[in-house]
Amino acid sequence: MNADTPRREDLQLGREIVGRINELAAISEDPARLTRLFLTAEHRAAAELILDWMRQAGMSAHMDPIGNVRGRYEGERDGLPALMLGSHYDTVVDAGKWDGPLGLITAISGVADLHRLGLKLPFAIEVVGFADEEGVRFASTLLGSRAVAGTFDESVLSVRDRAGISLREAVKAFGLDPGQIAKAARVRGDLLGYLELHIEQGPVLEQENLPVGVVTAIAGATRLAARLTGMAGHAGTVPMQLRRDALAGAAECIHVIEELCRADASGLVGTVGYIHASPGATNVIPGEAAFTIDMRAPSDIHRERAVTGIVHRIEEIASRRQLGLQIDVTHENRTAPCAPWLRAQIAEAIAAEGFRAFDLPSGAGHDGMAMIDVADVGMIFVRCRGGVSHHPDEHVELADADAGARVLLRLVENFRPQTGAQ
Ligand code: GLV
Ligand code: MN
Ligand code: MN
Repeated sequence: MNADTPRREDLQLGREIVGRINELAAISEDPARLTRLFLTAEHRAAAELILDWMRQAGMSAHMDPIGNVRGRYEGERDGLPALMLGSHYDTVVDAGKWDGPLGLITAISGVADLHRLGLKLPFAIEVVGFADEEGVRFASTLLGSRAVAGTFDESVLSVRDRAGISLREAVKAFGLDPGQIAKAARVRGDLLGYLELHIEQGPVLEQENLPVGVVTAIAGATRLAARLTGMAGHAGTVPMQLRRDALAGAAECIHVIEELCRADASGLVGTVGYIHASPGATNVIPGEAAFTIDMRAPSDIHRERAVTGIVHRIEEIASRRQLGLQIDVTHENRTAPCAPWLRAQIAEAIAAEGFRAFDLPSGAGHDGMAMIDVADVGMIFVRCRGGVSHHPDEHVELADADAGARVLLRLVENFRPQTGAQ
């Protein structure tokens, strides 16, 4: 903070952030478990609340053509280049309330604080709440940030959700125009950088006894969708040797994925998080099984090799069991390194707030993976209890939310754009 900046009361920011986290978490398709998916009534209600907060914080604010919420706080003059801050406000199914919203709300509350103190900076601040980071509804992911980065793939508009609704239809039903999505994009050179604060979603900061950390890189990921087709039949009459059981084939595939990842010493992780068997009756041999695969590794080459190996093994299993196989890559992102100059400024802000600046990689995916195509990316992690995430027990202490906000504000107030390179 500059020497003449008025002081903020202890925990003032943290209290406001936690209050808003709880307010947003009440917007869920199921009151008993937090679920807020892309292009739903809950998405709409959450967007309206967030737009309201942005306007109260002195920003002009609107929803863009993919359903992201966008706010802008002008600098010392109107129209100056902007530093972008953001995170996502969609959730997984039965989610925690901090994954995504913590970064978005901290950014808004930070700008609200600048506004309250009458501070204008030598650049604008844009805050973005991304509408789809988790990719739960449509197999692809980062749809909000890809639209902003100008890398939205129009072919994804034909992808259908599990109810058979295409992304194109869902965008229209939400009241937006799929033909306008390209207008959400920024171009390289528009932005001074993209900064995201996010919960760590792992246990490292807790082990280090630190409330915040500097992210070095966001690990790459591949998502696949597989469908095995066999022959449905009577569970009592078809001998075991004559069956073409698609679900038993899928079970073998899942086992192989787990074995391969367990045997790997380099941090490869693989998850089958969804499976659907049909026709789905106790006394019917499953004729079809569809499942997803999520593969990640600290090194891109390693992940790519592992994916090739797993696809090969699944092909073998399908062929041996006489099952039809369709397997498609639905999402692929390379590892996104955080920019050294932004990492250095984050580390400075952390140290200035009295904490040890500690570097750690992100195993989870983030919107920065898409934003790196349009701006340099920096990320601050905030400790979460037990490293638990994508689970309702996800929790951040008030003091840590406050520490994260102070670091972000200090970083923004002292932000020095990289000269010469965009
Ligand atoms: C998003 O949370 C992801 O890492 O899949
Ligand atoms: Mn997230
Ligand atoms: Mn998540």
